[in-house]
Amino acid sequence: MAEKAVLLDRLVKRFGRFTAVDSISLSVERGEVFGFLGPNGAGKSTTIRIMCGLLRPTSGTAVIDGIDVARRPEDVRAGIGYMSQRFSLYRDLTVGENAAFFAGVYGLGGREASARIGEVLADVGLSGVESLQVSSLDPGRRQRLALGCSLMHRPRILFLDEPTSGVDPRTRGEFWDIIYRLAESGVTVFVTTHYMQEADFCSRLAMIHAGRLVASGTPGDLRREHGPGVVEVRCADPSGMLDALSQSAGVEEAFLFGDAIHAYSADPAASAAALSAISGVSAARVIEPTLEDVFVRLVRGTARPGGTEAAG
Ligand SMILES: Nc1ncnc2c1ncn2[C@@H]1O[C@H](COP(=O)(O)OP(=O)(O)O)[C@@H](O)[C@H]1O
Ligand SMILES: [Mg+2]
Repeated sequence: MAEKAVLLDRLVKRFGRFTAVDSISLSVERGEVFGFLGPNGAGKSTTIRIMCGLLRPTSGTAVIDGIDVARRPEDVRAGIGYMSQRFSLYRDLTVGENAAFFAGVYGLGGREASARIGEVLADVGLSGVESLQVSSLDPGRRQRLALGCSLMHRPRILFLDEPTSGVDPRTRGEFWDIIYRLAESGVTVFVTTHYMQEADFCSRLAMIHAGRLVASGTPGDLRREHGPGVVEVRCADPSGMLDALSQSAGVEEAFLFGDAIHAYSADPAASAAALSAISGVSAARVIEPTLEDVFVRLVRGTARPGGTEAAG
């Protein structure tokens, strides 16, 4: 029987009296691009650090590639790659020197190291820039280099903690292209993000909030099972109109969503018709819920102060 790439069973991490990870259970199949979504402070990095053997769980188990990480952290680390949320490269060194450093960390030397460094830099689109200093790279290239360094030892499972944070949307797309290529080559990818727009790029995902798993499944499952009826409302002054729209035409709640308003309704077709008749509204139409709508709906009323970035 093929083992799961990741199996978390009632995983708990407490820091003093504070519970950062609150009984999370989930599994990831081999070859998946599994997303771990939640706002800042939700517990994503803590969970990843436990899975990578860098932090001991308070209770529960994390079995990675068939190995209980609390019992055999070194064995787990040999088979996984980890790209931390914090900057892990040496800014004063060049691209090539950073790659060589990480090759050394993973025990590669001589010709084997140069060959592998060449492959990895090609995989992440950095061939030809070996002599550039890391401090001069744009954020997208830096993140790709950090990814390349985490791939040096050909890990079977890759843990990426907010790899696209601070990177512009176009460059984020390029990064996801690399993630897909890795998955096609058989690597399992576990990736965290607080960008809800990236949720649709995952084969399956788990949404977490305040340390708890709030839902998991494919993007389609999550929309069907938890998505509200959504009317997208366009108007010249969305923030000025928000209160008025929240209180009309069967609308349960309304949120600013980019330059539009998303109004949730049990009968979106009727609400769309009524909303489009309101003066100041230029258009109102029923749309499929985004995964951000799903998340907002799921955590409504349970938001931790200062932890609602995912909805913004
Ligand atoms: N070493 C620590 N000691 C105390 N609290 C911590 C520690 N690490 C993280 N936390 C807290 O745990 C919560 C979850 O943090 P984290 O896992 O970094 O969330 P995320 O990665 O989703 O933003 C936060 O409230 C954070 O302040
Ligand atoms: Mg984090």
